[in-house]
Amino acid sequence: MMGQTPEQMIEGQRQDWNRVAGGWEKWDRFFDEQMAFLNHRLVADARLRAGMRVLDLGSGTGYPALLGAQTVGSSGSVIGLDLAEQMLAVARRKATALGLANVTFRTGDVTAFPFEANSFDAVTSRFCLMFLPEIPRAAAEIARVLRPGSWVAAAVWSAPEKNPSIGLSMEAIKKVVELPPPDPTAPGIFRLANPGDLAGMLQQAGLVDVTDQEFLAEWSYASADEYYTSLLEIAAPIQNLMAKLSADQIQEVRRLITQAATPYQRGDKITFPIAVRMIAARKTL
Ligand SMILES: C[S@@+](CC[C@H](N)C(=O)[O-])C[C@H]1O[C@@H](n2cnc3c(N)ncnc32)[C@H](O)[C@@H]1O
Repeated sequence: MMGQTPEQMIEGQRQDWNRVAGGWEKWDRFFDEQMAFLNHRLVADARLRAGMRVLDLGSGTGYPALLGAQTVGSSGSVIGLDLAEQMLAVARRKATALGLANVTFRTGDVTAFPFEANSFDAVTSRFCLMFLPEIPRAAAEIARVLRPGSWVAAAVWSAPEKNPSIGLSMEAIKKVVELPPPDPTAPGIFRLANPGDLAGMLQQAGLVDVTDQEFLAEWSYASADEYYTSLLEIAAPIQNLMAKLSADQIQEVRRLITQAATPYQRGDKITFPIAVRMIAARKTL
C-alpha cells in the first residue's frame, strides 16, 4: 500500500470490490436484514423528499440508493456512483426486481464527479468515503454539486474496539502473521473512525450545520462459522490479508476468529455490537 499513488490505490479498490461482488450478492439478504435501518437513517439525515435529485456515493450493491429512489418517487431520481462495475451489476438487478425506473448506477470515482455544480438536492453515502485516498477532494466535490441549502448524509465505521466483528478478525490475523503498523492516514475501514474526522473535512469544504454522531446497534449471526464465512466472502480488505497466508495459517486464523467470536454468543446466536459514525452537513443558502 505504502508508496502507491492515489490512482493506484483507486485501481486496487476497484479490483478488490469487483472481486467480492459475488459474495455481496450471496449475503445481500442477510446484511440487508441486519442493516436496513442505516439506509433509513441516511435518507432521514439527507432530508430526502419526493421529487428530489439525489447522488449516492459508493453505492456498491445499491445501499442506500435503492431506498433513496423509493423515497424520492417517480418524480425524483437517484444516481449511484461506484468504482466497481460488478457491484453495480448487482445493484441494477435489485433495482429491476423492485421495479425502480428512477435510479441509475454509473461507474466512476467519487473523488471527481462528472456532474455540474449545484445539480443535486442531496448526497448520501454508506461505508465508502473511508476507502478514498483523497477524502478532502471528495468533500469539496460534494460541496460543489449540492444545491444551496441541501444536505449530505454519510455513514462510516467507528472505532475498531467498538466494532469487534471487524476488529477481531484483524487481531486474529496479526497473531498469525506480522503486519506493518497501520498508517492512520491510509485508506481503510477505520480511516474515518474518530469523532470529527469526516465532519472536519466537510467543514473545511465549506459545509455548515455539521453533525457527527456515533450510532450504536448490533448484528447477529447464526454461528461463529457463519460469521467467519461471510467475513471472508465480503470483506475485501480481510481477503487481501488472508491471500498472503499459507493454508495452515488460514486454518489458524479461522480457529482464532471463531474462538474470539464465542464470547459474543447470546442465546442461539452470535451477536456483535456495532458502532457507526453518522455525519450530516449542508451547503449554505
Ligand atoms: C463497503 S462497500 C459499500 C457499498 C454500499 N454503499 C453499502 O453500504 O452496502 C464500499 C464501496 O465503495 C466503493 N468505492 C471505494 N472507493 C471508491 C471510489 N474512489 N469511488 C467510487 N466508489 C468507491 C467500492 O467499489 C464499494 O462498492
